[in-house]
Amino acid sequence: MEIIEELSLLIESKYPLIFFQNYEEKRAEEIIIEVARIRNSPLFIWSATTGLFQTDIGNPIYNTNAPLSALANIYKLEALYLLKDFHHYIKEPLIARKLVDLSYIFSQTKGAVIFSSPTLDIPPELEEQIVKIELKLPLEEELLKIVTKTVRTLRKEKDFLINLDEENLSELVRNLKGLTLMEAERAVSRVILEDRKLNKEDVRNILNAKREIIEREGIIEYFNPEDTLGTIGGMDNLKRWLAKRKGAFTKDAKALGLRPPKGILLIGIQGCGKSLIAKSIAKEWGLPLLKLDPGKIYDKYLGESEKSFYRVTHLAESLSPVIMWIDEIEKGFSYSSSGSEDSGVSQRIFGAFLSWLQEKEKPVFVVATANDISALPSELLRKGRFDEIFFVDLPTEVEREEIFKIQLKKREQIPDDLNLKRLAQATDGFSGAEIEQAIISALYSVLSTSGKLTTEVIEQEIRETKPLSVTMKERIQQLREWAKERTVPAR
Ligand SMILES: Nc1ncnc2c1ncn2[C@@H]1O[C@H](COP(=O)(O)OP(=O)(O)OP(=O)(O)O)[C@@H](O)[C@H]1O
Ligand SMILES: [Mg+2]
Repeated sequence: MEIIEELSLLIESKYPLIFFQNYEEKRAEEIIIEVARIRNSPLFIWSATTGLFQTDIGNPIYNTNAPLSALANIYKLEALYLLKDFHHYIKEPLIARKLVDLSYIFSQTKGAVIFSSPTLDIPPELEEQIVKIELKLPLEEELLKIVTKTVRTLRKEKDFLINLDEENLSELVRNLKGLTLMEAERAVSRVILEDRKLNKEDVRNILNAKREIIEREGIIEYFNPEDTLGTIGGMDNLKRWLAKRKGAFTKDAKALGLRPPKGILLIGIQGCGKSLIAKSIAKEWGLPLLKLDPGKIYDKYLGESEKSFYRVTHLAESLSPVIMWIDEIEKGFSYSSSGSEDSGVSQRIFGAFLSWLQEKEKPVFVVATANDISALPSELLRKGRFDEIFFVDLPTEVEREEIFKIQLKKREQIPDDLNLKRLAQATDGFSGAEIEQAIISALYSVLSTSGKLTTEVIEQEIRETKPLSVTMKERIQQLREWAKERTVPAR
């Protein structure tokens, strides 16, 4: 159902108070104006700066800038009242009381009070009276309209060439998904004005424009990964699991009635390739990769955190199928148990995240990683959140040999010239990252002495390395114990 119909139906059903959640105030307002027009109902709009005014009359009602005096002027029972920014006021006792009173009166009529804001912390006495409806990011049809409108507007001022067939156009529109209308408009203007053309190339250019817009928020980063699963040594079990699900996001999977997998949690020792796996999955499955920094969701402004969370999940869904990589998830959600003012927000978001994880229908495959289990909320480990929890341990001897091979090839070296078995034996307790580091150091030695890379040169570097597994022996042992019952080994 379209949002206009949905909203209209709520009003028709005599819901007195409606929380219209959105992050695009202007678009929300246009929708409400349209609803009022269709219903032939007078519309009043209020904000702290304008006071309360009726849209087709224009002049504000005298002295209604204060929220309470605005409420005192709400009496026309068949009218719609759009109140902006009420998330700042709704918790004040007098205002909450006044709204309860109004809800009784309005529930007899087809008038309604509509709160338009990104969040609304509803006080308990109003919980039963307020119904929530959410304005999602624009759909393709709406985006198509904004593209057409932007082109038409720009054409009035400037001359430019349009060379876009039907198919290019719909791809361009698809690439705008995840943006608000205003952002979409800006992105389209930009790709046109850059070269005074709108053509096939802009289908791709628009993706770049979008990436920049999203990245500016700093919460999410768009990745173009290069590594395949072939660049990971070992972890055969995990690779098998992933290979089996490679087609999980295709039509064929859908035809079999398979629901898209939710995601995996990778827990393990530092430097053993967790981040590498996240990147490789995206490349292997040919899906875009979004990296989420959960710590950045918690903005200091009230309401902004919820907005960010909402946008991130909606963005991911609108880009789906997509891989969402959450690196070091424990850092983002660890302070959810602290008793500070902030913890209310972080707890709410963590809760929202958990239910999103469990209930999301769209193919967003979450790959979360964690090192520090003591900071990992136990709720994350519960059944239904992730499809599987893998433990990434230090590599075995066979795996180390494979890692040597991969890391040498990556640096244009010929592995067959070296005794990989001996190197694998000498690196007991080394992580993949430490093996890589030893090779890099050896290459620097070769460079400075104008020598040749030999097994001995690498062995020398290995002897000089004190691996983390030595300095953190106890912690690793604890981690293994913990993982035994809760996780599946990656190898
Ligand atoms: N199994 C492996 N195969 C190949 N290379 C590896 C492997 N493990 C680690 N590496 C190398 O070490 C680098 C660092 O690993 P990565 O960042 O993926 O580890 P991590 O488990 O995410 O560590 P951290 O917990 O510190 O984030 C990788 O980019 C890769 O070059
Ligand atoms: Mg990592």
